[in-house]
Amino acid sequence: MRTIVVVNSKGGCGKTTIATNLAGHFAKRGVRTALVDLDPQQSSLEWLAARPGWRPSIHGVDGQKGSLHLPRNTQVTIIDSPARVHGRQLSDIVRRADLVVVPVLPSPIDIRAAGHFITGDLLHLGALKGKSGRIALVANRVRENAKIFSALQTFLRRQEIRHVGTLRDTQNYIRAAAMGLSIFELAPSLVARDLDQWRPLTRWVSRTKL
Ligand SMILES: Nc1ncnc2c1ncn2[C@@H]1O[C@H](COP(=O)(O)OP(=O)(O)OP(=O)(O)O)[C@@H](O)[C@H]1O
Ligand SMILES: [Mg+2]
Repeated sequence: MRTIVVVNSKGGCGKTTIATNLAGHFAKRGVRTALVDLDPQQSSLEWLAARPGWRPSIHGVDGQKGSLHLPRNTQVTIIDSPARVHGRQLSDIVRRADLVVVPVLPSPIDIRAAGHFITGDLLHLGALKGKSGRIALVANRVRENAKIFSALQTFLRRQEIRHVGTLRDTQNYIRAAAMGLSIFELAPSLVARDLDQWRPLTRWVSRTKL
């Protein structure tokens, strides 16, 4: 089983959007997928509750209820985490992970906060010592012509961890989320550009050697 944690202490950067879309991606490919929601806001579980029953199934787990009960044949587990995680809680979350995805928004406040989170918290965790290849940044809600995008790119280059994707700001994510779907399940003509943007990330989470 492969466990992918989506985490950033900064709120609203796209953790739930990326976690639910990753879950949708794997489920659509026939992979037995579990989605664990560690956030008291329960946004991932609410997304799952809105999901039509005939869509490829995803096993939802309320991660706040202590130990995680996953179906025995689960192949991929995606963990959505809450904002403001630090210290012991962060360490407990990351210990479960094979791979860690950190979404970052292209705003000065978010870039600075992500820098503190990565260099001050994440890279110090025992569970990730010597495993920086298992962490990836995803730039989210990017408008490519925005000036700040170059600041984000500079920031990403300075990190010891790789930048595996850039997702644009689009209503497609909001539309899909409203229906309990991932963008992989919307009309291909509508999301062609988004599917291209997801490819490096889905490849990285599927193929990185553990
Ligand atoms: N690429 C995107 N394009 C457009 N809207 C987006 C995109 N990514 C996220 N959003 C929207 O931004 C808002 C915040 O995203 P999301 O809930 O995924 O962040 P989060 O990190 O999980 O937040 P929290 O810290 O509160 O859990 C949501 O309304 C979501 O639909
Ligand atoms: Mg969330």
